[in-house]
Amino acid sequence: MKKTFLIAFLFVVFNQITFAQKEKPTVITLVNDEKAPIINKHIYGHFAEHLGRSIYGGFFVGDTSKIPNTKGVRNDVVAALKDLKIPNLRWPGGCFADTYHWKDGIGPKENRPTIVNQWWGGVTEDNSFGTHDFLNMCELLQTEPYISGNVGSGTVQELSDWVQYTNFDGKSPMSDLRKQNGRTEPWKVKFWGIGNEAWGCGGNMKPEYYAGEYRKYTTFMPEGLIRIASGASSDDYKWTETLLKDIPLKMLGGVAIHHYAVIDWNKKGADVDFTEDHYFKTMKEALKMEELVTKHSAIMDKYDADKKIDLVVDEWGGWYDVEKGSNPGFLYQQNTMRDAVLAGATLNIFNNHADRVRMANLAQCVNVLQAVILTDKAKMILTPTYHVMKMYTIHHDAKLIPVNFSSPLYNFKEESLPAVSVSASKDKNGLVHISVVNVDSKNKNKIEIDLSGMGIKSVSATILTSPKLQDHNNFDSPNKIVPGAFKGFENRKGKLEITIPPFSVITLEAK
Ligand code: AHR
Repeated sequence: MKKTFLIAFLFVVFNQITFAQKEKPTVITLVNDEKAPIINKHIYGHFAEHLGRSIYGGFFVGDTSKIPNTKGVRNDVVAALKDLKIPNLRWPGGCFADTYHWKDGIGPKENRPTIVNQWWGGVTEDNSFGTHDFLNMCELLQTEPYISGNVGSGTVQELSDWVQYTNFDGKSPMSDLRKQNGRTEPWKVKFWGIGNEAWGCGGNMKPEYYAGEYRKYTTFMPEGLIRIASGASSDDYKWTETLLKDIPLKMLGGVAIHHYAVIDWNKKGADVDFTEDHYFKTMKEALKMEELVTKHSAIMDKYDADKKIDLVVDEWGGWYDVEKGSNPGFLYQQNTMRDAVLAGATLNIFNNHADRVRMANLAQCVNVLQAVILTDKAKMILTPTYHVMKMYTIHHDAKLIPVNFSSPLYNFKEESLPAVSVSASKDKNGLVHISVVNVDSKNKNKIEIDLSGMGIKSVSATILTSPKLQDHNNFDSPNKIVPGAFKGFENRKGKLEITIPPFSVITLEAK
């Protein structure tokens, strides 16, 4: 009898404690900071490499295709990306960039030489999509081109000629050639990458050697361009330190880093049929971005206290095994709610580091890795990552509102991660936007945001969620996951109490 009573008593106490813990919301404070930076819209950039079905079949089908196109570029893809307000598009690689000789891709298509795409499946590249095709496509997309130059197997002359070809409006050998190829006005490309992954596929260089190459290449490029150094892989802080030490600051527009959420380069795991273990590990890798940008920024601060140089995360995203049956060299993977959570949490990190992170490129845009668009011949679908990117356009060029809180934990086995990710901003019209992600795969989380004193009259919200983490859109069911109105919050005189369902992304607009 006594034993039963004790068990019953403990049960009640335990329930009360867990009930109290679950019910107590995490309080998130919005910090009023006049000096807070603007969130550069270029954080929301994209990436299109000559890889698999990204360019060929994805963006470009050729002007004889039955798929509706404008000078060979798919109209459906252009419309979807315009809707996403993509601020910039990086091209032609990636690893491909350091094998690419731009003069192969200009002039009459029938005269263009072919090359072998050594990094991506060993397929023949016919160069039918070249500089004019890309830059005209950027005009269609109303986006800024970001060209990665070839340092690994190119020459200083070649890159300098490319800049002259695209940008020079006077008379010169390269601007004459451009006009001969049908384009009078220069495109005025602002963003230039000086090689890609110089530590690896870009030439296996040491940082000191690359810094010397960078100095040489940029010497022959006009001032006024944003020249971006090929940066570190994830936590290679020595790489960043060496670049900052060895390159005069006035020669640097940005320093890149690349970081993929990959759990094991030899065993990346499935894109759709993943376990919670794989999900947790993926999110652990993704959330490392916080530490990476903090530490790379701290190194940059030592040399560039005024924060003139941008930290450019020009490759990021989830990387899994390719979809079963697809070419392993084409990096085609499906995109689930896991990717939506990954994107939302990563973009919150970038927003919150807007003082230094001023550009980033999700890898990649169409049909490769964490794509926002997937195509299958004439069909096109938008992925959950697309919808997150679209929900987050509210932050483009808005003023950051720093947030302060201590996140509840997402516990899995012996480990834990911060469960809640938040960023906030105020746009030019005075609207306050907050993006909230619950990383926890099982538990909802309750948060409270104090907006009182901000003159807020109404709040509306949008959510991206789905019953299963593995849910995704496919060609038979393209709208399984789409954003919807969210009502799971209460506005108590400006104090917003929000219950965020597991693995969901929410944006709120307060006016
Ligand atoms: O995005 C795929 C590849 O990943 C890029 O070509 C390369 O830069 C990186 O290693």
